[in-house]
Amino acid sequence: MSFGESMGSKNDELSRRLRGLSHAMYAEVQDLLHHPTFLETRWEIHHNVCKSDHLLRSAHYAWMIAVAVRANRRTCARAGLLHDLHSRLGTWSNHGAIAASVASRLGESKDVCEAIVPHMYPLGPAPKSREGWVLVVADKIASVVDTLHFVAHLITGKSLQKRKELRATDKYMQREVAAN
Ligand SMILES: [Fe+2]
Ligand SMILES: [Fe+2]
Repeated sequence: MSFGESMGSKNDELSRRLRGLSHAMYAEVQDLLHHPTFLETRWEIHHNVCKSDHLLRSAHYAWMIAVAVRANRRTCARAGLLHDLHSRLGTWSNHGAIAASVASRLGESKDVCEAIVPHMYPLGPAPKSREGWVLVVADKIASVVDTLHFVAHLITGKSLQKRKELRATDKYMQREVAAN
C-alpha cells in the first residue's frame, strides 16, 4: 500500500505505521495529514506518482535531515508536507510562493512558509533559513525516489495504471484537457 492510499484512516496507529512514520514525527504532523487540503493531493499527479506520496516522502526526508543539521524538525516536516500544494498554478520557480501562501492561510508559522518558498532552488530564490535548505535537499531526494519508484513498477504495469488513474482524478489535468 502506498503512503497516499492510507490517508483518512480513523485508526491513527495503523495509519501512522502504513506511512512508515515515527511516533515523534506523526505527532508533529498528524493534523495536516487529516486536513482536507492535504487529503486532496491523494488525487493529484506529481512526478508521475501520487502527490501525497511525494509530500510524505519529502517530509520524511526533511525530518531525518533536520536532526543531522540541527534544524527545527517540526518546521521541516510540516514544510515538507505542504511545499507543493497547488503547484500547478505556478511555474518551476514560483510555485513555492504559491504553496507558502496556502500554508499561511492554513495557519502555518512564518518559519514553515519561509522554508517552503525557495524549495526549488537553484530555480528561484535561495533559502534564508536552515529549514529552507533542509527542504531543498529533502525535496530533491524525494523527487529522485518518486522517479525510481515509478520506473521500478513499470515492469508490473502498476506505475502506468496508477498514472492513468491519477490523470483521471487530477483536477488540474482535467482543466488542461478542457482548455485544449
Ligand atoms: Fe515543488
Ligand atoms: Fe516537491
